[in-house]
Amino acid sequence: MKFLSYKKQDSLFIEDVAIADISKVVGTPFYCYSRKNLVDNFQNFSDSFMQSGISQEGKFDYKICYAIKANFNIHLVKILAELGSGIDAVSAGEIFRAIKAGVSPKKIVFAGVGKTREEISYALQNGVEEFSVESVPEMFLLSEVAVRLKKKAKFSLRVNPNVDAGTHDKISTGRKGDKFGVDIDLAEEIYAKASKLPGLEIHGISMHIGSQITVIDPFVAAFKKLRELCLTLRKNGHKISALDFGGGIGILYKNENTLLIQDYVNLIKEITADLKVKITIAPGRAMVGSAGILVSKIIFLKETSVKNFAIIDAAMNDLMRPGLYGSYHEILPVIKKFGAKSNFDLAGPICETTDILAQNRELIDPKSDDLLAFLSAGAYGSSMSNEYNCRPLVPEVLVDGNSFKVIRRRPSFEEMLHLELKNE
Ligand SMILES: Cc1ncc(COP(=O)(O)O)c(C=O)c1O
Repeated sequence: MKFLSYKKQDSLFIEDVAIADISKVVGTPFYCYSRKNLVDNFQNFSDSFMQSGISQEGKFDYKICYAIKANFNIHLVKILAELGSGIDAVSAGEIFRAIKAGVSPKKIVFAGVGKTREEISYALQNGVEEFSVESVPEMFLLSEVAVRLKKKAKFSLRVNPNVDAGTHDKISTGRKGDKFGVDIDLAEEIYAKASKLPGLEIHGISMHIGSQITVIDPFVAAFKKLRELCLTLRKNGHKISALDFGGGIGILYKNENTLLIQDYVNLIKEITADLKVKITIAPGRAMVGSAGILVSKIIFLKETSVKNFAIIDAAMNDLMRPGLYGSYHEILPVIKKFGAKSNFDLAGPICETTDILAQNRELIDPKSDDLLAFLSAGAYGSSMSNEYNCRPLVPEVLVDGNSFKVIRRRPSFEEMLHLELKNE
């Protein structure tokens, strides 16, 4: 990772700031992000579109809608908004944040499998126009709310193409039987109904087949089906003017051969070459994942008859991915060590057996108070964190060149009680 390197006396730096220096100011554990890496990730997507030559009548008609669920810190969203990013949102709370961060509601797509009446109203009243609809009852509800509010909602159906993304079972979304979208075989019938409903304007089709996809084949299979459906629906007389390809592009956690963004964008170009459609993509992980690390401190070393544990001060409430999906995060010592290596499981302090952040990792001469950095923790790290065991949410720090700022501070125990005691 370009933005992480050992400098001066084997100290790990993020951009030009020593991680050990940040820890002296904010304490551990904490999340830390590289502004440069985030910007590079966005540019990589937009450059790939430029290089692919995707153009509709002379202008580049694509929209990169960052899936804010991956990391909703407003300071990160602001950076992306300034670069021109739109937002893929799945709740009213995400829409609120995106607008606060400066994203135009016209660049927000409201996706998600369970939008409530209140959320749909909130979106429409705040200027959000595009909806990725995931069920027939939602279609009727959207129509009803739009009519009541005297608005037009742009309707795209999220179709489920029945393609196995070949990713972890728990982050696969495009197979028959997954809760997301509607069976692609029912789409013609549903568009026929949608076209007769007041308050809806047929806009496009959307799709999202899963997350952490590291090979192109599932995208090829799914996008071909999307193209076919677009042609069929047009033949049926529907004005399909936009295709939303979702997110799902995998990142490097261990030693995966990840997908090249350029190959992914070239595929979209190939699929849409003659369609004259507006293109939306909604990457989350690929935008922020590599830009963040989680820094934690060893509290104790603990030997058992079968293995060694390093008990660390970060836990599954701070980084759920290993406990939830068995995910792997590379670990680097913040101060490089030399000497004998031995293997450890890195366990958090939470009262759950599953609170193991890494298994069987080689550490060199570890000691209490040593700092460790968990890499590729920018996506689905802080955004999934919680206060289990009354552990305060960890601070987040943004590094820009040789300076850093705290972009979310650690709450005090008193603050953690506020919502419970405020009305007493
Ligand atoms: C509709 C939709 N779009 C985009 C994403 C972002 O996926 P990823 O972070 O894998 O790019 C998700 C993630 O679940 C999603 O549900």
